[in-house]
Amino acid sequence: MRRKFCRFCSEFAATTIKYSGLPLCKKHFVEYLEKRVFKTVKKYRMIQEGERILLGVSGGKDSIALLHILKDLQKELKFEIIPLFIDLGIQLNKYSQLSGEIARKNCEKLGLDLITVKIKNEYGFSLDDVFSKRLKRPICSVCGLIKRYVLNRKAIELSADKVATGHNLNDEASFILQNFINMDIELLSRLSPIQPTFNKLLIGRIKPLFEIYEDEISLYVTFKNLEYIDIACPYAKEASTLQLKNILIQLENIRSGAILTMVRGFHKKLKPILQNKQKIEEEKELTTCKLCGMPTSTEICSFCRLKSKIIKN
Ligand code: AMP
Ligand code: FES
Ligand code: ZN
Ligand code: ZN
Repeated sequence: MRRKFCRFCSEFAATTIKYSGLPLCKKHFVEYLEKRVFKTVKKYRMIQEGERILLGVSGGKDSIALLHILKDLQKELKFEIIPLFIDLGIQLNKYSQLSGEIARKNCEKLGLDLITVKIKNEYGFSLDDVFSKRLKRPICSVCGLIKRYVLNRKAIELSADKVATGHNLNDEASFILQNFINMDIELLSRLSPIQPTFNKLLIGRIKPLFEIYEDEISLYVTFKNLEYIDIACPYAKEASTLQLKNILIQLENIRSGAILTMVRGFHKKLKPILQNKQKIEEEKELTTCKLCGMPTSTEICSFCRLKSKIIKN
């Protein structure tokens, strides 16, 4: 097969954007992807001039890519990046330790100071402690709860305006599909690439990579030679989430662009309808947790309930 040339220069193309057929060399692919993220940030007004953005850096390819892309965006838009790594205390394969080191190295390269929150030191338990208790709830879901809690709490403590995470298009699509299968209208209506700050205890969240395919992020970190943790978490995501992701990739292989069309269509067309239906529910007041003061709809928040279960025994 004849090799194609990059659309923007005389180099051979290193990849072709599948859903548009655009051939690009490494340099122009990197620029193209960064431009697309900048466009998403601007279109959804994710970041305003002067804001402090707390970025959850896990050491994985998505958040490492986002760290570098946001650093680049600072040339156009003045805002602050506060990178934060949550050390969950996963000892197997030295997973947490290695992830933290990679996150720190990337930050150092960009002249940023990484904040590390060791949950064992701050809250008295690790994810390994949670695992050893064999709770009914899947470990990944507990892990998600811990991460959301810590990111929100730290954002308040550090006076951040928003929390940014590296969730990508495939993450967004599998979440939609999962909740569509369960017909969980409440979760679906709350899903958003930009969740505004609800009150001073519930800091807004943004997902600047939500329109970028996972394999595009893989190419980005490879072409830019970025270091990231490429071993899977030993408590790897539940099989069902991975299976759904594989089904979506099969769909994409049959119909290029299907995932992007589905996610965009969901946010543009379906979500407004769902949100209207959910409005009354959403207006129900949040109170604050009696133990930690964070927002909750129950007397004690789910993080504190989890903590007491793990530490009590
Ligand atoms: P995950 O839920 O593991 O797919 O991660 C989604 C996003 O959450 C990542 O892209 C990061 O922005 C953030 N995140 C995940 N794990 C951590 C961590 N240990 N520390 C800080 N942020 C994290
Ligand atoms: Fe959360 Fe693996 S990082 S379960
Ligand atoms: Zn080129
Ligand atoms: Zn609490």
